Amino acid sequence: MSILRILTYGDDRLQTPAKAVEKITPEIRKLIADMAETMHAAKGVGLAATQVGVMARLCVVNPEAREGGGEETSKPAGHRVFINPQIIWTSDEDVPMSEGCLSLPGIEAEVFRPSAIRVRYRDERWQVREEEMSGLLARILQHEIDHLDGVLFVDRVGFVRRHVLAGQLRKLRKERESIFVPAALAGDKG
Ligand code: NI
Repeated sequence: MSILRILTYGDDRLQTPAKAVEKITPEIRKLIADMAETMHAAKGVGLAATQVGVMARLCVVNPEAREGGGEETSKPAGHRVFINPQIIWTSDEDVPMSEGCLSLPGIEAEVFRPSAIRVRYRDERWQVREEEMSGLLARILQHEIDHLDGVLFVDRVGFVRRHVLAGQLRKLRKERESIFVPAALAGDKG
């Protein structure tokens, strides 16, 4: 397994919808293992394939990473995999929750989303499953499915909050350009 580089704000791939996974291949299995390792290393609660530059509709989640309160535990890190996840029902009530994102380091904002959802997806054995969920898992999955549609949580905050975040977002975009794009290639956006 290997740890993958997580794309940060300003990379066009984070705002591009991913394509459905057609079948489980050795490459997809390796991608899932690498994404799980990457998420655990970054202490994230979820990671979508688009965040590591692979435009495939799958994500890994681990709500326990947050419930553990950031303490080191001896418990082995677990994760769940959702392939081609689709929200087929949402509760009527939208509730606020503070969100962050591995692709937007240092930024947090309150986002309103349905408190419960029903999701249809395929598991790692390619079985179709449906599951109703609420609380943190429902929140994480909605955030990750947004990633697969090319949507970031900052796209869902209110106008005023978005205005407050604008400076931080500009800074992230600049940092990404100065770190990852050599000056000679600055005009060549892949
Ligand atoms: Ni995210």
